[in-house]
Formats: sequence, structure tokens, C-alpha cells
Amino acid sequence: MSFEFSEEFDFENRIMDTSEIPEDTVDGENPLRPKTLDEYIGQEKVKENLKVFIEAAKQRGETLDHVLLYGPPGLGKTTLAAIIAKEMGVSIRITSGPAIEKPGDLASLLTNLNSGDVLFIDEIHRLSRAVEEVLYPSMEDFAIDIITGKGQMAASYHLPLPHFTLVGATTRAGQLTAPLRDRFGVVLRLELYTPEELALIIERSAGILNMEIEHDGALEIASRSRGTPRIANRLLKRVRDFAQVMSNGIITCDTARIALDKLEIDELGLDQNDRRMLEAIIKYYNGGPVGVETLAAAIGEEAITIEDVYEPYLLQIGFLARTPRGRCVTAEACRHLGYKVPNGTANVQPNLFD
Ligand code: ADE
Repeated sequence: MSFEFSEEFDFENRIMDTSEIPEDTVDGENPLRPKTLDEYIGQEKVKENLKVFIEAAKQRGETLDHVLLYGPPGLGKTTLAAIIAKEMGVSIRITSGPAIEKPGDLASLLTNLNSGDVLFIDEIHRLSRAVEEVLYPSMEDFAIDIITGKGQMAASYHLPLPHFTLVGATTRAGQLTAPLRDRFGVVLRLELYTPEELALIIERSAGILNMEIEHDGALEIASRSRGTPRIANRLLKRVRDFAQVMSNGIITCDTARIALDKLEIDELGLDQNDRRMLEAIIKYYNGGPVGVETLAAAIGEEAITIEDVYEPYLLQIGFLARTPRGRCVTAEACRHLGYKVPNGTANVQPNLFD
């Protein structure tokens, strides 16, 4: 079963999008990004461990072991990779899985690194098999074998590489092949941020952007930011526009609340798209279970976007449950959206199978 959405339903252009958009950057740089571990707020366990690994590698005069960062989008994986490079006192080269099309692309990246450099590969789960095959020996032995020519003209070269640190990032550690995963010495999982952590991030960002914000205003934005700094910073900029017109530019709890209501982001941070996805499960699938592919077709969205972007937060707040037979909404989600709880939904335990 499928249904049409009205024109206002805009999946492409959501303020709650967790991918980085041009608006987030100034001259290609995001001024809100922390540059050191001490400036970085939240992810305490990750920071604590990284500090030890970086300090130990520096004391031994070695490069840092390869690092895998995983977790939902928008939590600061690229930022952390840049911080790792800065704390190690080396340069960083940033690329992504889909951008490395051929083994030759990877070979040229690797041979251009300086000793100790960080190579950051975002979306590392999207590397092709052929590229992965070249990556393994590079990570392990810091060398690659290149074959040139064909038939009798074929020649193989063993090319030593500078020692480097690969920082890989993925939203889905489960999709990495085992041999690739096993070659990372350090594996760190990033968690969604708490509202208190996000409020600190918002206050820091407001300071950098010369905005005046009251703590309650920061908390109001934080609690509607789905645990994600990238969304928190984007909402801060939108709320500033309202504050400028409504209250001398000072972001108070009231201005934040009014602005976010006008942007149709509710008290829990759900936007129109979240609400419509949950409503689709309630109205058309009786609360679930519904398979993610079926749901994706019904709402005109990619399954991977549902899994990576919409679901982590809805699972975290206990509005959605993943069961072996598909996705179910929880009774709490129905109540929040003002729907009667469908039969069976009441018994669904949030995150039971996660
Ligand atoms: N801006 C975005 N993410 C941040 C973080 N984790 N700490 C401080 N500022 C940030």
C-alpha cells in the first residue's frame, strides 16, 4: 500500500537533516567545530580513551593505531578525525568510500601522505571490494603491490608507504567486512548527546557567533535537537532570526519555544517527516510490524535513510521498536501523536531487539 504526501512534505530539504550542508560552512570551514579534545563537549568515554591512545603513541614516537568511529550521522566523526590529527601534530587528508572509485585512486592518496598523517575515510562501508583489497596490506604492512600492464608486459611493484593512521567512519559498523573491521586497533562508538551536553554545545556556538542566549533558551533548543550537535547548531541559527525580530536578539526560553513551534519541530524534536513516518505505521499498518523496505516504499524514502537518519533517535526515545518481523510504533509514540493505541502495540517493548 502506498499513499501520496502533500507538497509541503519535503524530505530533501529538512532542517533536521543530519548530513552536512553548505549552510554549515563559511569558506569551506565550519567555525563551530571544536579543534581540540578539550574543546570537544560530550562523548566522554571516547575522549578519555582517545587521550590515552594519543598520549601513549606520542610518548613512544609512533603513529597512532588505525581508528574506526561509528554511530549515527551528525555526531562529530569528521570533527574527531581532525582533532586526532591536530593532537598528534600531523596533517589530515579527508575523503570518502564512494569517492575512492579504483585501487589506483587509493594508491595515489596513500603515496602522497607524509609519515604519521591521518587519512580519514568517511562512509568507509561503501568502499568497493577491489579498493578494500588494496587497503588491507596498506593498513597492515604499510606497503602496496601495484600491477601495471597486461600479459607479458605485466610487472608488479612492491611500493613501501609512509606509516599513516587510517581513521574510518561509518554509520553502520555491521556492514563492514570482518577483515576490514579487524584491522582497526581502536574502535569507538559515538552516542547521541544528552540535552545537557547539547545545551553546552549551543552556548559555546552562540559565543562564537556573538549571540546572546539564556541557559533555558539553550536547553529548549537542545531538547528538540534529536541528540545531534549538527541539528542543534542549525536550529540555533534559525532561532536567532526569530529572536532578532521578537526579543532584541536575545534567545530566551520563550523565543526558542515560539521559533521551534513555528518551524514545526515539536517538544521532542520530531519534525513533519518523523511524524508522518510514525503516522504511516499507525494508520496503514495498524502500528506495525512493517518491514523497512515496505515502509520506505510507502513514504517515498530510501530504506537506508530511514535506518540511518530517522530511526536512531526514534529508537532512543522509545517511539519505535525493531522486531524480527519489522518496525512497530510504541504506545508512547501513539499517545504523543494523539492516536488511539492500536491492538498489540501496547505490548511492544522499545528497543527490545536492538
Ligand atoms: N560543535 C559540534 N559538535 C561539538 C562538540 N561535540 N563539542 C563542541 N562543539 C561542537
